[in-house]
Amino acid sequence: MTAKKESNDALELLIDDNRNVRKLFKEYEKIHEKAAAEDKLELVEQICTEFLIHADVEEQLFYPAVRDAIKDEELIDEAEVEHQTARDLIKQIQAMMPDDELYDAKVRVLGEYVEHHVEEEEKEMFPKVKKAKLDLDAMGQEMMQAKETARTGFLSAKSKGKGSGRRASR
Ligand SMILES: [Fe+2]
Ligand SMILES: [Fe+2]
Repeated sequence: MTAKKESNDALELLIDDNRNVRKLFKEYEKIHEKAAAEDKLELVEQICTEFLIHADVEEQLFYPAVRDAIKDEELIDEAEVEHQTARDLIKQIQAMMPDDELYDAKVRVLGEYVEHHVEEEEKEMFPKVKKAKLDLDAMGQEMMQAKETARTGFLSAKSKGKGSGRRASR
Protein backbone atom coordinates (compact mmCIF):
# COMPACT_ATOMS: atom_id res chain seq x y z
CA MET A 1 0.00 0.00 0.00
CA THR A 2 1.10 3.52 -0.70
CA ALA A 3 1.94 5.51 2.39
CA LYS A 4 -0.12 8.66 2.93
CA LYS A 5 1.77 11.70 1.68
CA GLU A 6 2.12 14.90 3.64
CA SER A 7 3.14 17.02 0.66
CA ASN A 8 0.46 18.02 -1.82
CA ASP A 9 2.77 19.09 -4.61
CA ALA A 10 1.81 17.40 -7.89
CA LEU A 11 5.39 16.47 -8.73
CA GLU A 12 6.04 15.03 -5.28
CA LEU A 13 2.95 12.94 -5.65
CA LEU A 14 4.00 11.57 -9.02
CA ILE A 15 7.58 10.92 -7.94
CA ASP A 16 6.22 9.07 -4.94
CA ASP A 17 4.14 6.87 -7.20
CA ASN A 18 7.19 6.20 -9.35
CA ARG A 19 9.20 5.18 -6.31
CA ASN A 20 6.42 2.85 -5.28
CA VAL A 21 6.03 1.17 -8.66
CA ARG A 22 9.80 0.79 -9.04
CA LYS A 23 9.87 -0.94 -5.69
CA LEU A 24 7.13 -3.33 -6.78
CA PHE A 25 8.96 -4.23 -9.99
CA LYS A 26 12.14 -4.80 -8.00
CA GLU A 27 10.22 -7.08 -5.70
CA TYR A 28 9.00 -9.02 -8.73
CA GLU A 29 12.57 -9.33 -10.01
CA LYS A 30 13.52 -10.78 -6.68
CA ILE A 31 10.70 -13.31 -6.31
CA HIS A 32 9.68 -14.27 -9.83
CA GLU A 33 11.77 -17.42 -10.12
CA LYS A 34 10.72 -19.05 -6.89
CA ALA A 35 7.44 -17.54 -5.76
CA ALA A 36 4.12 -19.35 -5.88
CA ALA A 37 1.89 -18.48 -8.81
CA GLU A 38 -0.70 -16.80 -6.61
CA ASP A 39 1.90 -14.56 -4.96
CA LYS A 40 3.18 -13.49 -8.36
CA LEU A 41 -0.34 -12.90 -9.54
CA GLU A 42 -1.10 -10.72 -6.54
CA LEU A 43 2.05 -8.66 -6.93
CA VAL A 44 1.53 -8.18 -10.65
CA GLU A 45 -2.08 -7.21 -10.06
CA GLN A 46 -0.87 -4.58 -7.62
CA ILE A 47 1.73 -3.28 -10.09
CA CYS A 48 -0.86 -3.01 -12.85
CA THR A 49 -3.44 -1.29 -10.66
CA GLU A 50 -0.91 1.23 -9.37
CA PHE A 51 0.33 2.02 -12.85
CA LEU A 52 -3.17 2.35 -14.29
CA ILE A 53 -4.36 4.68 -11.54
CA HIS A 54 -1.24 6.79 -11.94
CA ALA A 55 -1.59 6.95 -15.72
CA ASP A 56 -5.30 7.81 -15.57
CA VAL A 57 -4.71 10.69 -13.18
CA GLU A 58 -1.82 11.98 -15.24
CA GLU A 59 -3.90 11.93 -18.37
CA GLN A 60 -6.92 13.52 -16.76
CA LEU A 61 -5.21 16.31 -14.87
CA PHE A 62 -1.46 16.55 -15.19
CA TYR A 63 -0.68 16.13 -18.89
CA PRO A 64 -3.38 18.55 -20.13
CA ALA A 65 -2.18 21.31 -17.79
CA VAL A 66 1.45 20.61 -18.63
CA ARG A 67 0.73 20.52 -22.34
CA ASP A 68 -0.60 24.07 -22.10
CA ALA A 69 2.17 25.28 -19.87
CA ILE A 70 5.44 23.93 -21.25
CA LYS A 71 4.93 24.31 -25.00
CA ASP A 72 6.42 20.94 -25.81
CA GLU A 73 3.72 18.97 -27.57
CA GLU A 74 6.07 16.20 -28.62
CA LEU A 75 7.07 15.34 -25.09
CA ILE A 76 3.46 14.95 -23.96
CA ASP A 77 2.43 13.11 -27.13
CA GLU A 78 5.21 10.62 -26.56
CA ALA A 79 4.25 10.13 -22.92
CA GLU A 80 0.64 9.44 -23.90
CA VAL A 81 1.69 6.88 -26.50
CA GLU A 82 3.88 5.22 -23.88
CA HIS A 83 0.91 5.00 -21.51
CA GLN A 84 -1.14 3.38 -24.25
CA THR A 85 1.56 0.84 -25.05
CA ALA A 86 1.94 0.01 -21.36
CA ARG A 87 -1.84 -0.42 -21.10
CA ASP A 88 -1.78 -2.85 -24.03
CA LEU A 89 0.94 -4.89 -22.39
CA ILE A 90 -0.95 -4.84 -19.08
CA LYS A 91 -4.05 -6.14 -20.83
CA GLN A 92 -2.03 -9.05 -22.22
CA ILE A 93 -0.51 -9.79 -18.83
CA GLN A 94 -3.86 -9.66 -17.06
CA ALA A 95 -5.23 -12.25 -19.47
CA MET A 96 -2.43 -14.67 -18.57
CA MET A 97 -1.48 -16.91 -15.68
CA PRO A 98 1.99 -16.80 -14.09
CA ASP A 99 2.94 -20.23 -15.40
CA ASP A 100 2.16 -19.23 -18.97
CA GLU A 101 4.99 -18.99 -21.40
CA LEU A 102 6.28 -15.41 -21.68
CA TYR A 103 4.49 -14.23 -18.52
CA ASP A 104 7.74 -13.31 -16.77
CA ALA A 105 9.12 -11.80 -19.95
CA LYS A 106 6.06 -9.61 -20.36
CA VAL A 107 6.11 -8.41 -16.77
CA ARG A 108 9.83 -7.65 -16.97
CA VAL A 109 9.48 -5.83 -20.27
CA LEU A 110 6.68 -3.82 -18.70
CA GLY A 111 9.09 -2.98 -15.90
CA GLU A 112 11.77 -1.81 -18.32
CA TYR A 113 9.23 0.13 -20.26
CA VAL A 114 7.78 1.87 -17.23
CA GLU A 115 11.31 2.63 -16.04
CA HIS A 116 12.08 4.33 -19.34
CA HIS A 117 8.83 6.27 -19.13
CA VAL A 118 9.24 7.54 -15.59
CA GLU A 119 12.86 8.48 -16.28
CA GLU A 120 11.75 10.70 -19.12
CA GLU A 121 9.10 12.25 -16.95
CA GLU A 122 11.44 12.89 -14.07
CA LYS A 123 14.43 14.03 -16.12
CA GLU A 124 12.84 15.84 -19.07
CA MET A 125 9.26 16.73 -18.27
CA PHE A 126 9.36 17.65 -14.59
CA PRO A 127 12.23 20.16 -14.91
CA LYS A 128 10.17 21.98 -17.53
CA VAL A 129 7.09 21.80 -15.34
CA LYS A 130 9.02 23.33 -12.47
CA LYS A 131 9.94 26.32 -14.62
CA ALA A 132 6.39 26.79 -15.90
CA LYS A 133 3.90 28.86 -13.99
CA LEU A 134 1.65 26.13 -12.67
CA ASP A 135 -0.02 25.89 -9.32
CA LEU A 136 1.49 22.55 -8.40
CA ASP A 137 -0.02 22.54 -4.91
CA ALA A 138 -3.55 22.99 -6.20
CA MET A 139 -2.94 20.42 -8.90
CA GLY A 140 -1.57 18.02 -6.33
CA GLN A 141 -4.73 18.38 -4.25
CA GLU A 142 -6.88 17.63 -7.24
CA MET A 143 -4.73 14.69 -8.25
CA MET A 144 -4.84 13.21 -4.79
CA GLN A 145 -8.63 13.26 -4.87
CA ALA A 146 -8.71 11.83 -8.38
CA LYS A 147 -6.44 9.04 -7.24
CA GLU A 148 -8.79 8.10 -4.42
CA THR A 149 -11.74 8.08 -6.80
CA ALA A 150 -9.83 6.00 -9.34
CA ARG A 151 -8.72 3.54 -6.67
CA THR A 152 -12.29 3.06 -5.45
CA GLY A 153 -13.38 2.46 -9.04
CA PHE A 154 -10.63 -0.09 -9.63
CA LEU A 155 -11.40 -1.93 -6.42
CA SER A 156 -15.11 -2.21 -7.10
CA ALA A 157 -14.48 -3.27 -10.71
CA LYS A 158 -12.14 -5.93 -9.41
CA SER A 159 -14.58 -7.31 -6.86
CA LYS A 160 -17.34 -7.41 -9.48
CA GLY A 161 -15.35 -9.05 -12.25
CA LYS A 162 -13.07 -11.28 -10.27
CA GLY A 163 -10.80 -13.17 -12.60
CA SER A 164 -12.68 -12.03 -15.68
CA GLY A 165 -10.50 -11.71 -18.73
CA ARG A 166 -8.16 -14.30 -17.40
CA ARG A 167 -8.71 -17.86 -18.48
CA ALA A 168 -9.80 -20.35 -15.81
CA SER A 169 -6.90 -21.49 -13.67
CA ARG A 170 -5.67 -24.98 -14.04
FE1 LIG B 1 3.30 8.84 -17.23
FE1 LIG C 1 4.17 9.36 -14.29
